[in-house]
Amino acid sequence: MSDPTNRLAPVVRLAQAKLNLTLAIVGPRPDGYHALHSVVVPLGLTDRLSFAPAPGGRDTLHVGGRDAGPIAENLVLRAIAATRRAVGARSPGPAGPPPPLAVRLEKRIPVAAGLGGGSSDAAAAIDGALEAWGAELEPAERLALAIGLGSDVPFFLAGGPALIEGRGERVTSLAPLRGEPPGVLLVTPAVAVRTPDVFAAWASGIRPPGACAARASSEHLAAELRAGLSGTDLVRRSAVLAAANDLLSATLALVPELVAFRRALARLLGRPIGQSGSGPTCLVLYPSLVEAAAAADLVREALGAGRLPRLGMDDPAIEPTTIAAGPGAKAASDSTMIREE
Ligand code: C5P
Repeated sequence: MSDPTNRLAPVVRLAQAKLNLTLAIVGPRPDGYHALHSVVVPLGLTDRLSFAPAPGGRDTLHVGGRDAGPIAENLVLRAIAATRRAVGARSPGPAGPPPPLAVRLEKRIPVAAGLGGGSSDAAAAIDGALEAWGAELEPAERLALAIGLGSDVPFFLAGGPALIEGRGERVTSLAPLRGEPPGVLLVTPAVAVRTPDVFAAWASGIRPPGACAARASSEHLAAELRAGLSGTDLVRRSAVLAAANDLLSATLALVPELVAFRRALARLLGRPIGQSGSGPTCLVLYPSLVEAAAAADLVREALGAGRLPRLGMDDPAIEPTTIAAGPGAKAASDSTMIREE
């Protein structure tokens, strides 16, 4: 019998970061999670994963770039193991389970930042492993795998702007923004914020005033995107969007130093400061990447001159990027797949 590793074709995937343009908490769920209404868009900022045959008998993961924490906790290996089980259960046969993979992950997305980097890597791992093995799963099987790995993972399987509901498993594609892709400046202070702690703080009553304001903004934005919204019009809504995150007050209660940091950033840039997901990433929308990159320079200068408070042990991560353009769900995710010969 031929060596099963010969069947493997090396595969590369780019895993996009995401931004919650809105994040409304509809309410607690009986399973302990929270029902969401959130408009989410993919970003130009990506991690890079490559998949090749593993010489030993098990999957391996090598991480370069940003420190992504302990390998054992990395979702990539869990995603590959779960995908192998699903493929094996679907077509048990004499060939045995799909062979081990050696994965290289080049991290560029700040970790534990509210940008979905780990979840995006997991979705890319499901997709990349299936491609490397020449195996297939039905969309419903992929979705079950994705939600089993984390609430943010289904969004990344679909790709493209989407309305996220339920725990994260209901993903409805929305039309991409028209015109030039808006620029986004991401500033991630070096403070750890655990998502479960932020949701727990919300559940304990730390909520924004004006009940349901984020929900109304979120529904309105989803309707506007469905009807076709331009990037320019999105940026005009910066102030409303910056206030449309129900988790912001909970994050600020857990990390009070963020209040002064965000205030100083707003004074420096003269624009509304939003937060993605459970934070701590601060986000600022611009009409283009050029303007976001100029703002990044201002932030670096201000940090050097001590005009921005320093949080944690390190400098913040400063990433100018764009809201990813693209025709939508499948085409957008396919275009991020490159085969290495
Ligand atoms: O699903 P995931 O493991 O990414 O979620 C991390 C934590 O965030 C959960 O343990 C839960 O505390 C919280 N969460 C939630 N409701 C969601 C998503 C996440 O309460 N819809």
